[in-house]
Amino acid sequence: MKAVLDYLHTHEARFLEELCAYARIPSVSAQPKHAPDMLRAAAWIASHCRSLGLATRVHPTAGNPIVVARTTPVDSRRPTYLVYGHYDVQPPEPFELWKTPPFEPRIEGRSIYARGISDNKGQHLAHLNVVEAYVRTGTQLPCNLIFLIEGEEEVGSDHLGLFLQKQRGKLACDGVVISDNGIPSLKHPALTYALRGIVAIEVRIDGPSRDLHSGLFGGSLENPAMALCQLLAKMRDKRGKISVPGYYQNVVPLSAYERRQMAKLPFRSEAYRKFLGVPKLFGESGFTPDEQKTSRPTFEINGLTSGYQGAGSKTIVPAWASAKITLRLVPDQKPRQIVLAVTQHLRKHCPPTVRLTVKPGHGGEPYIVSPTTPRAQAALRALRAGFGYEALLMREGGSIPIVNQFKKVLGVDTLLLGMALPDDNAHSPNEKFSLDAFTAGMRMGAHLWKELAAI
Ligand code: BES
Ligand code: ZN
Repeated sequence: MKAVLDYLHTHEARFLEELCAYARIPSVSAQPKHAPDMLRAAAWIASHCRSLGLATRVHPTAGNPIVVARTTPVDSRRPTYLVYGHYDVQPPEPFELWKTPPFEPRIEGRSIYARGISDNKGQHLAHLNVVEAYVRTGTQLPCNLIFLIEGEEEVGSDHLGLFLQKQRGKLACDGVVISDNGIPSLKHPALTYALRGIVAIEVRIDGPSRDLHSGLFGGSLENPAMALCQLLAKMRDKRGKISVPGYYQNVVPLSAYERRQMAKLPFRSEAYRKFLGVPKLFGESGFTPDEQKTSRPTFEINGLTSGYQGAGSKTIVPAWASAKITLRLVPDQKPRQIVLAVTQHLRKHCPPTVRLTVKPGHGGEPYIVSPTTPRAQAALRALRAGFGYEALLMREGGSIPIVNQFKKVLGVDTLLLGMALPDDNAHSPNEKFSLDAFTAGMRMGAHLWKELAAI
């Protein structure tokens, strides 16, 4: 182990250069103009895997390619773990809020700035660096590893589910390891045992057949933008409770054990409020902010569009209005049931003066796994060894929809071992990755395979 850890330390500067090269590829899955960059990012990570001696294939899909890379199998009695990551990144807009361009990585202090550096290029590259350290020091890897790196996570992993089903035999493993999530701080490494699920819907209100002069016609017909606002306002009350009947029916409350674990996390409301930049926190009454953002469901408007958005003013009654919405779900809410309930509620409250269309989008179930298994304990030991602090247990509010498919299709649970920090600005301007989290994450990874092989 010492040789592996020394190697990781000695080669830190080169690991950083490689991470920068990877982050220079603008692999934005949401934007069609970046299609060639998706192929370049897949090729980059595949060639990196090959350079470490991994048996690597780039599988084309109807969407972006999926990269699968295997370490040379050691002893067949050793466990096999699948390490999942994604090479696609969120759109960088708005560009003007970036201190330096999003695809020109920059190191400042102990942080490296670039879109996708934390979510998720830096985190899965850390695991590959661990493999490199084992291979180049001639240390036998305690586990067989399969890396599965896709390019559509940020847009709902549409083609990965089918791929998993087709390749289930080849991807057979004892468990999945994912570092695509976070920890509260470098001094509070943590194992994430639950993620929220998600469903996306688009709500559209259509009114007149074209934009109309608001002076000539305004007042004599419903304004679609107003109708949409009033309709959406019926979805949640002032205390933060979602008003859709049956919405909370399957929500499993936090256990006393979970609340005790949560209390060990370093959460400070006032610092959190300042960090968000809001005048006052708001959330479902009866729950702490930490509970609200990890263990309670939400109804979130992600985007609102209607009417004239250009310079100056334009006096119209817009022809239509639309909203992009996502709902975060918690165990045991079912995406399909929730979409149905929300659609019914929208229909019930939509006035007859406009037409309503509800278009369901991507979705994924919430995930929860026991935090007290021997495997979870092994992961906690690896976190402790890598970060140098006692490891905690936590739930997180983000979603990685494919985690449930790993359970359903491959029959295995996932260990979520994040390296991102709360101020990494994932999905925001000036995304960064902490160099200390990177190095601690690599040490954690080095210990992880030894710990997991020993249980
Ligand atoms: N890395 C995140 C998910 C995440 C972040 C999990 C923090 C736990 C803590 C991932 O890249 C992501 O952003 N997922 C999307 C999924 C969606 C597009 C289906 C999300 O959560 O919005
Ligand atoms: Zn993301």
